[in-house]
Amino acid sequence: MKATKPKVAQTKNTAKINALAIDVRSVDLTEINTPALVVNLFRGVKKPGGATAAVDKALDGAITRLIEDGEIKGSTGESTLIHTFGKIKPERVLVLGLGPQDKFDVQVIRRVSAEVVRFLRRKGISSAATIAHGAGIGGLDPALSGQAIAEGAYLGLYKFSTYLTKNEDSANEFQSLTVVESNPAKAKSIVSGIDLGSAVARAAITARNMVNEPANQMTPSNMALAAQKVAAEQKLGIEILDNAQMKKMGMGAFMGVAQGTDEPAKLIILRYDGDPSNPENNLGLIGKGITFDTGGISLKPPGGMEAMKGDMAGGASVIAAMEIIGHTKPKINVLGVIAATENMPGASAQRPGDVVRAMNGKTIEVINTDAEGRLVLADALCYARDQGITKLVDVATLTGAIVTTLGKACTGIMGNDDALVQQTIDAGKKTGEKFWELPMFDEYKDLIKSDVADMKNSGGRQAGSISAAMLLAEFVDGASWVHLDIAGTSTSEKVTGYLVKGATGVPVRTLAQLAEDLAAITEAQKSGIIGK
Ligand code: BES
Ligand code: MN
Ligand code: ZN
Repeated sequence: MKATKPKVAQTKNTAKINALAIDVRSVDLTEINTPALVVNLFRGVKKPGGATAAVDKALDGAITRLIEDGEIKGSTGESTLIHTFGKIKPERVLVLGLGPQDKFDVQVIRRVSAEVVRFLRRKGISSAATIAHGAGIGGLDPALSGQAIAEGAYLGLYKFSTYLTKNEDSANEFQSLTVVESNPAKAKSIVSGIDLGSAVARAAITARNMVNEPANQMTPSNMALAAQKVAAEQKLGIEILDNAQMKKMGMGAFMGVAQGTDEPAKLIILRYDGDPSNPENNLGLIGKGITFDTGGISLKPPGGMEAMKGDMAGGASVIAAMEIIGHTKPKINVLGVIAATENMPGASAQRPGDVVRAMNGKTIEVINTDAEGRLVLADALCYARDQGITKLVDVATLTGAIVTTLGKACTGIMGNDDALVQQTIDAGKKTGEKFWELPMFDEYKDLIKSDVADMKNSGGRQAGSISAAMLLAEFVDGASWVHLDIAGTSTSEKVTGYLVKGATGVPVRTLAQLAEDLAAITEAQKSGIIGK
């Protein structure tokens, strides 16, 4: 093999989260000093092309041989290590399967990027170089490839080890990933993609950490502190309301839940002014922040109750999405509102049969104190409307029923505006987070009819996720509104792709993408490119 002269190396570190730093270099693949060089292969390809072909040639056809022998198939995430014995500078070549070519997209890159760094970590290899998957013959935008590689690697390596006193594999962290791209223009795009992907992954990790923290740590007050940290870093406006202020404002539904605990409740308000001269260009992100859900007087059974430390995942997602929005700065005003309290069966807890009055004056009969999410959200939605918000997206671990209906593969989405529902689903297609719509037919309103109040907070056994949404719809006062039920998707039971056990960070990336997309749509409408 004729040695090519290494091009000027740009070793500018572009990103670092925890142990891992990712950088980009313009050097020849076979000339890079690394313990492992990652190349790729689509499923069923018999003769590699592009960068993989160049490396195969330098290795005297070793990759082709392994394909012929059936050891390399190219299935998604398949990782095959080949030692190079000095034939080229990299000590090993790792052939990474990309799966079928017709199914290849950025989501595949996120997944395989996570799989490959975890594979290397298991092998005790702490650094590697990789080609930018899809950016070569794949024809994908190099920035998107860099972004997906960064998101996949950071999210896939994530561990929540705060409370592990002997951290056995801390000596065995994966520390350094170099994306190799010889074309300087492409390398530059990859750098910007990695920057964005790192910011996005960092925010998703903010949410994961908050959700994984036990409830004795992640109290409403500490959620407010976490929001304050994000606000300070991203220069967002922040306001935190306490029980007395909320009572005064008439948030009787939220306060009914909050009266069962000694832990002070917080309404956390984050403000990003991306288009201050156009207040009508706005988006409200409303999060359920129940830092622990015992069920209250309608106490939950003990089995699995520990999972209810994650009942603030909606609130955490909103805080984390605001972190990304503060970083990417879309031209839209975004208000984040998080209703944070515990749901405890304290001596002054609300009782089944109590009637509470929300900020908009509507009354709710509390049939079941465990249907607390819709109560706190009712007042948070009213608050956002009061602030002039006309587009609302609420995020909540709202119902066990959504897990029965959809499992953990997708988030349940409901709403009163088809366009906003579709825009959210479309944003999810870009981020790889899936949504599935449930109907909001008028007939379902009957489920929450009460004899003593305007509505009741539990619709019984039928269509549990929909009846919960029907109640929320009573508090949006004519605004466009979408409801995301993340009870299934906010946590994972297994390691798969860039998800690990525990908190997933869903739907942080989609919320931020939606803000970007809505800002772009408004700009396009203004310039007459698309109609209203
Ligand atoms: N936080 C729960 C919903 C939940 C269940 C989240 C499982 C994550 C995993 C919510 O507050 C709740 O208790 N909902 C009740 C509503 C019922 C009482 C009408 C439910 O789903 O059983
Ligand atoms: Mn509950
Ligand atoms: Zn709950």
